[in-house]
Amino acid sequence: MISSAALSNTLQPDNLERDRELALFSHRSHFPALGIKNRTYFNYGGQGVMCESALDAIAKNFRHIESLGCFSSAAGDWMVAEYNATKAAIAQEFQVSPTTITLTENTTVGCNIALWAVDWQQGDRLLLSDCEHPGIIAGAVQIQKRFGIEIDYFPLTNTRNANAEDSESVVDLLVQHLQSRTRMVMLSHICWNTGQVLPLKAIAKACHDRDVFVAVDAAQSVGVLPLNLADIAADFYAFTTHKWWCAPLGLGALYIRPEIFDRVEPVFVGWRGLTAKTPIPQWREDGAKFEVASSTYALYESMRIAIAHANSWGSQLQRYERICQLSKILWERLNALPHIDCIRQLPPESGLISFKVNQELAKGAIAQKSHSLIAKQLESEHQILIRALADPDCLRASIHYLTSTDDIDRLVSVLN
Ligand SMILES: Cc1ncc(COP(=O)(O)O)c(C=O)c1O
Repeated sequence: MISSAALSNTLQPDNLERDRELALFSHRSHFPALGIKNRTYFNYGGQGVMCESALDAIAKNFRHIESLGCFSSAAGDWMVAEYNATKAAIAQEFQVSPTTITLTENTTVGCNIALWAVDWQQGDRLLLSDCEHPGIIAGAVQIQKRFGIEIDYFPLTNTRNANAEDSESVVDLLVQHLQSRTRMVMLSHICWNTGQVLPLKAIAKACHDRDVFVAVDAAQSVGVLPLNLADIAADFYAFTTHKWWCAPLGLGALYIRPEIFDRVEPVFVGWRGLTAKTPIPQWREDGAKFEVASSTYALYESMRIAIAHANSWGSQLQRYERICQLSKILWERLNALPHIDCIRQLPPESGLISFKVNQELAKGAIAQKSHSLIAKQLESEHQILIRALADPDCLRASIHYLTSTDDIDRLVSVLN
């Protein structure tokens, strides 16, 4: 919980900011998981916590379908209305048309749709960064096996300490790794292992100048960065809603840039993508073309409630500013501990802070332990939920706009 003394000491808010902090205090009280005594949550990059009304909507809507009559016209109409309202709510967050949105289950499904949408020819090339998530690399390797393409990796890790002003160096590095047969670049908007934010708009421009598709793993950026997807102009932007948006597990989406829509094809298909015309299937000319069939409509309202709840606290920009402000506080305080080494040497530009425990200097309970053992110990002994990563071998704390300065105090004092 936030103590007002801690806030005025650390954030030094002006009156408006102080009002917002006090609003946050009551805002947090709507999240049951944040009210559990002595529990401190730093795993938003894995899964967000849900507010009470979003949780309640799930059971309410399953019951509602039963009460309307399962597979009745009334239930069907209700599901169509839910589906349309949900696409509209997602599209509004990104300032794009609902027709550009495909509903999925998670980020990885969206990335798979993008990977398989290209008419790959043997000898074509796919460029990935060396910081991508294992699930996305697995998808790329399947494409390689199936179509005989080559995968190239560009060493994003070498730019770990590039900040927004150095964005040109990141774009230059990527461009150096494009070859004449490169058809697609797939990369994260925010790296899951370091929190580095990539200059996506400039990358998309450089790739489009060379007729290369840009597919983005947005698992860690949706709900963190203020986003205008039409302006960024990446071709595919795949994400889940259960992390930083704090919506239920099992709902994701994919934005497809309208300009490429006629150049890409779905692989898995079903009735959701078809117009009513029979007997020859005709595709719908919107994101539904990449959807398949029945899904959990009862979850959709919960997701809309989660987005609305976040917006009720502050705009996307205000939430991002708070994330950066709090992340900087944690990063500075971790840097001040002699036995902790932050992976990035720059103040964070996202909510992911990765750091190593230096075993030569560590003493007490965290000495002589792997990062995964330390994470387990923080959970079992202190109810501090944080995750360990394998590459780089480190701990990762996720800072959300819901995080409080008291949460940060607790983590730092336990590590100390
Ligand atoms: C960068 C990145 N990509 C993909 C995933 C997988 O996400 P999902 O389970 O939504 O497919 C994660 C999850 O942690 C991630 O951090």
